[in-house]
Amino acid sequence: MARSRGSHYSALRRVARVANSGFGLRKTCNAIAKSTARAMQANGCRILSLNARREYLITVGTYGLSDVYLKKGALDARKSLPDILEGKEVFIEDATKDERVQHPQVALAQGVASILGVPILGKGEAIGEIRIYTREPRRFSEADRSFLLSVANVCAVMFERAELQQLLELGYRASERRRKASRASPLPVTTLRPTVFAHPSEEDFAKVLDFYCIEWLYEPRSFPLKWEGDKIAEMFTPDFYLPELDIYVELTTLKQSLITEKNRKLRQLRELYPDVNVRLLTKTDFTKLLAKYGYGPLGEAKVEGVDRVLYSHAQIQRRVKALAGRISRDYAGERLVLIGVLKGVLCFMADLMQHLSLPVTVDFMAISHYGGDGQVVKITRDLDSTITGQHVLMVEDIVDTGMTLNYLLGHLSAHTPASLRVCTLLDKRARRLINVPLDYVGFEVPDEFVVGYGLDYKGEYRNLPFIGILRPELIKDEEPA
Ligand code: IMP
Repeated sequence: MARSRGSHYSALRRVARVANSGFGLRKTCNAIAKSTARAMQANGCRILSLNARREYLITVGTYGLSDVYLKKGALDARKSLPDILEGKEVFIEDATKDERVQHPQVALAQGVASILGVPILGKGEAIGEIRIYTREPRRFSEADRSFLLSVANVCAVMFERAELQQLLELGYRASERRRKASRASPLPVTTLRPTVFAHPSEEDFAKVLDFYCIEWLYEPRSFPLKWEGDKIAEMFTPDFYLPELDIYVELTTLKQSLITEKNRKLRQLRELYPDVNVRLLTKTDFTKLLAKYGYGPLGEAKVEGVDRVLYSHAQIQRRVKALAGRISRDYAGERLVLIGVLKGVLCFMADLMQHLSLPVTVDFMAISHYGGDGQVVKITRDLDSTITGQHVLMVEDIVDTGMTLNYLLGHLSAHTPASLRVCTLLDKRARRLINVPLDYVGFEVPDEFVVGYGLDYKGEYRNLPFIGILRPELIKDEEPA
């Protein structure tokens, strides 16, 4: 149902008034997102700003979006609807089915159906985006689209003004400035940052973060530390911000004079900005920090044998939570028996069950493969409990050819459960030989041998907190067991 042009005009008047209100960027953008979503009778709106290297989109304003969307932090500009940043308008009628959507399952879990996105253009180049979300699939009228483009133009002016303000740091008394700085949003828009690393160790650090698929922003924020009258006399810009861990990182060499100076600045920063989590790290320290947050073995930059990380710990956790949400909704009011096959499923099962808001019991089976092609399955440990008349969810780590699952489903259905469904974390669809029905799938993985998060190669790698691809030369001509 389209709204009249009159209501779009009054919404645009509201947007322009808010943009001119002098509030901080984040507050202004939140208010604009709200007015925009309401004017378009949409359920959500998100205003995003692009970083200077055109790699990340940072949320600067939202309305009506669930936590999962917001906690995603910065979006990878190359993967998340990249056409918008090419300057195009993008319309997606059904986000759960459209292949341009990176994670349709997330859209499904979050109840997002249609998306309309337009670029925010500054001097002819995309500097950000506005996205509109609806719960029901719908098409947008011409009036809706030109309204959204007008809002994008207002945002462009605001972004440029915020950037200027940040660069010049003019016009405020020192005390006023300090008060504002302490209330400042964690990630104000910054688009004029150096595009190259200042030091090779920073590049190394970025590579390690990339290896572990940890999102990072380079020098996204400067913290004023000292003022002389109205002017800022000293600033501190930590090298990195890691949105998933909400931590700023400053790298340092072992040179004592540098460490002392940086420690002084960090002390001041912590006094002025007590909510900011910032760490000073030497090159060898940062792997320890990553290990503390569950990335990689202590003291090693990379994991021997792992070619690259496919899904980071944080990505897995987000996906598992979303799957559990869907399962909890689908089985609302029922009791559920979860059945896992040892040992690959252990991490997934442990995380999944903790997020289920249902009465749940858990049972495990163990199997071994034998026969010439290794694909004949033998049950070496059967269920402890009876599943007759119960709702059963078979939980799998990975479905490859489908042989194992097909055999197990046959075995379980012979016990006549009330229902029998399958939830697998990974689906290696390219190698499927038997078309087994999968009701809940975490990620579709390529035709490679994957390890970590419970999955092993010759008994090892299960303890890695992420899912990575094993170096192909380690497997040679062997097939997965
Ligand atoms: P399927 O019978 O071919 O579907 O194989 C399923 C079993 O093979 C899984 O439960 C795993 O134990 C193992 N598997 C298949 N692919 C992989 C992999 O990439 N990494 C680790 N184990 C795998």
